Amino acid sequence: MQTELIWIDREHMSLHIHKMEQAGKILRGGGLVAFPTETVYGLGADALNEEAARKIYEAKGRPSDNPLIVHIADPEALDGIVESVPEKAAALAAAFWPGPLTMIFHKKECVPYGTTGGLSTVAVRMPSDEIARELIRQGGGYVAAPSANVSGRPSPTTAQHVYEDMAGRIPMILDGGPVPIGLESTIVDLTGERPVILRPGYITLDMVRSVTGEVEVDQGLIAEDSSVRPKAPGMKYRHYAPKADLQIVEGPMEQVISYINEQCAAPGKTGVICTEETREHYHAGDVKCIGSRRDELSIASHLFAILREFDEDQVDRIYSESFDTPGIGQAVMNRLLKAAGHRKIDVS
Ligand code: TXA
Ligand code: MG
Repeated sequence: MQTELIWIDREHMSLHIHKMEQAGKILRGGGLVAFPTETVYGLGADALNEEAARKIYEAKGRPSDNPLIVHIADPEALDGIVESVPEKAAALAAAFWPGPLTMIFHKKECVPYGTTGGLSTVAVRMPSDEIARELIRQGGGYVAAPSANVSGRPSPTTAQHVYEDMAGRIPMILDGGPVPIGLESTIVDLTGERPVILRPGYITLDMVRSVTGEVEVDQGLIAEDSSVRPKAPGMKYRHYAPKADLQIVEGPMEQVISYINEQCAAPGKTGVICTEETREHYHAGDVKCIGSRRDELSIASHLFAILREFDEDQVDRIYSESFDTPGIGQAVMNRLLKAAGHRKIDVS
């Protein structure tokens, strides 16, 4: 299959309306289209068409028990696919939609089990990206979309990343440039009495709490051993894995730097993830600056791209500084720990 990569200028979408219609037609015909969102690139299919959803699993090599998020373009679309909208969900939608928040509801019958991985609940998100929303409207209103990477690879934050993973597997990729956030949406389960965070993201625990009051965090996210099963089926899989072993180094910054520098002296090629604040202290190795500690979003938005670059550079091992800050740092560490298979070294 030929994969068409199409540039869409979000500032002048009307110039591209013909291409957007073509993309929508592919979706309505049961095909796949990759597209930008504010979090990561998604791999879209008609969420109400079981056969279309099946194609997503095939293209990604994704286990079929891992449910998909259904994307909508307008708040009114929610009622069409969920049994009811609890008050707290309505309040969260008013506060954070359109945006990087996914909520779990009891599904209506029209949502096939092929989309929800056999669950009677459905995950719904209304993205803020204008290309995404135009595509959703053109595609019939309900677009199931996981991150557009091959299962196990870092999520794509540029159309080139999608092309690397999906060329030959899907007919069309819409290129809207690099995404602004770079980590997948926050997932909140609203099917119980209290909201439960199933996946951390740009919308933090405090932001959710400020709208809904008490919030729980899924124990499967916190527990380092894998004995507690996460409630979001996808969170149990090894994710974001670079080919080389990755370790996170924690402790006072001076000791972290000297430990990593010692490792760089060993034979072979060592990758280093550092920040603008520490860059000048590393003298050997394949050193990549992820962003500035004064700008958390810069760190979030570069993580997945850097993990992919280390694969291209064929490093033998990777050491990363730690980014455990209260805001989006929680989501960054969640992804980094998964990429590292939870290997951490404390050098204090
Ligand atoms: O930012 C995002 O959410 C991106 C963009 C494309 O929107 N999408 C994304 O999808 O990250 P994906 O498939 O890579 O991750 C979806 C996560 C998985 O961990 C899945 O198990 C969980 O959402 N999930 C989906 N439906 C669920 C449900 N009904 N109950 C619990 N977890 C669910
Ligand atoms: Mg994913």
